[in-house]
Amino acid sequence: MDLVLRNCRLLEREGLYDLLITKGRISKIGKDLKADNSYDALGRLLIPGMGDMHVHLDSAMTLGRPRFNQSGTLLEGIEIWGEYKKSLSKDEVKARARRAVEWMVVQGVTMIRTHADVTESRLEGLRGLLELREEMRDLVNIQVTAFPQDGILTDNGNLELLEKAMEMGADNVGMIPHNEMTREDGVKSISLAFDLAQKYGRGVDGHVDETDDEGSRFLEVVASETYKRGMAGRVAAGHVTAMHSYNGAYADRLMRLLKRAGVNVVVNPAVNLHLQGRYDTYPKRRGLARIKELLAGGVNVSLGNDCLMDPWYPLGRGDILQSLYLAVHAAHLTSYGEVVRSLDLVTYNAAKTFGLREYGIMEGAVADLVLLDATHPLEVVRDQPTRLLVMKGGKVVSVGEPEKYRLSSGKEVNFSPSLP
Ligand code: FE2
Repeated sequence: MDLVLRNCRLLEREGLYDLLITKGRISKIGKDLKADNSYDALGRLLIPGMGDMHVHLDSAMTLGRPRFNQSGTLLEGIEIWGEYKKSLSKDEVKARARRAVEWMVVQGVTMIRTHADVTESRLEGLRGLLELREEMRDLVNIQVTAFPQDGILTDNGNLELLEKAMEMGADNVGMIPHNEMTREDGVKSISLAFDLAQKYGRGVDGHVDETDDEGSRFLEVVASETYKRGMAGRVAAGHVTAMHSYNGAYADRLMRLLKRAGVNVVVNPAVNLHLQGRYDTYPKRRGLARIKELLAGGVNVSLGNDCLMDPWYPLGRGDILQSLYLAVHAAHLTSYGEVVRSLDLVTYNAAKTFGLREYGIMEGAVADLVLLDATHPLEVVRDQPTRLLVMKGGKVVSVGEPEKYRLSSGKEVNFSPSLP
């Protein structure tokens, strides 16, 4: 059924517009458009659906099972998960992951790239997430990356499990070269992951250099493989926190290589800030990839929540705008123009990483849309406002109501300022 969203404020356009939604797409943007159904946006800001490009849904909401992470390190998290994952069942994974996806959907996420640990030999997490991908298809686009958490070459059989995951229908091949036993194994694991991606016609989505060790230099290998195999745009490198600690000359060369190769970088601000710097005294490193310099160098950067209440991270509510809020602080993207443009990280840049075409606020695009209780992009980052309406493929999948506060005098207080 046709629908008109009336009086929408759009990014980078003056005035208010109507959007006609027909057969799941934006068929027209203009003024005074008519259809059988209409919704008045009352001048609020409409943006394209947002994307979380890195989240571990198989471990979401397992916090405290079987114990809490006391050191706050990545490695203790891997140990705890290693204990828990022996008891995973497909249905239990699905129940937790479904809840996490619902959190994300109501907060405006229409694209999710999740990791399923495929070093658990029964592949229960993968089975669960693949089923969930299909069952929630009308609510959200999900891609599942087959993630060899413990390494591809660290145990006999891990490579076979990774290939089995691709046969079962995983969307992307994962890797974790910095967690292999040696530099040589790390390099070899990257080559094996790319081989599988090419064999099955899938993308590559790696955990790369998630450490404060400035000697961890696997991202250059990922870039080189991407370039030599002609896979520009189909490869994502997640975390890449070691980049924070590289010397300037090396980092500059690396970022040029990333641009040339067409590697997408995915940063997980909350978890990177939380897990990195744990071996430092003071000053403590932030441990984030160089978002500002990557963007300036023309590299596509998007964001992920990474973890939601799991062995690695006790917090999180699945709001990608919360991650953006942290990113603009930690990366000094805090000039007026930078804050306004930073919305791209969770919209257009995410869609590019996800490989989604026909995306955005334009005629012909799929109507994956979010109406925010805000009138200006700066408010979106500052306030993470209520997602009033979330649309997926032209259908309303979620509605939200703004929070309300009143002083004891009866005066209503809201958080919307007047902005230029
Ligand atoms: Fe991760």
